[in-house]
Amino acid sequence: MYASRIDIPDHTRKAAIRLLQARLSDALDLDAQLKQAHWNVRGMGFFGLHQLFDAVHGEVEGFADTLAERIATLGGVADGRVQTTAVRTQLYEYALQTVAGEDHLRAIAAVLAQFGKSLRADIDAAAALPDADTADVLTEVSRATDKQLWFVEAHLSGA
Ligand SMILES: [Fe+2]
Repeated sequence: MYASRIDIPDHTRKAAIRLLQARLSDALDLDAQLKQAHWNVRGMGFFGLHQLFDAVHGEVEGFADTLAERIATLGGVADGRVQTTAVRTQLYEYALQTVAGEDHLRAIAAVLAQFGKSLRADIDAAAALPDADTADVLTEVSRATDKQLWFVEAHLSGA
């Protein structure tokens, strides 16, 4: 960890970085999963879903950046290596054989919901450290994640 003039004790910064890094690995996995859906969806409604998954991908890319930059702000090293992401992600693995739009929608909805659930737990953990600013960063990402989940779930009539 780097030294900083920031008025947050080292042990608090370290604990916040740990929370943020776990979600960064998830966000980078989610980023790749959305491209997986964008490239491989087939069938009726292809074009709309192809575009939807890319739009969600753009949002998720922003989440990873926000999380990584809070890590750097706190004097940590943001680990965005694909090897680290593969080992550390807590999201479901994307099924390579997914084809139909509805199956891609369900797969993406499932990982967005997982990501949102973890973020919500982390908001409370960060507030308890206490690091209100990290809690705020996590809240921002979690609120935006919930909105993306709505966009995806709205394509699944009542399911
Ligand atoms: Fe594309």
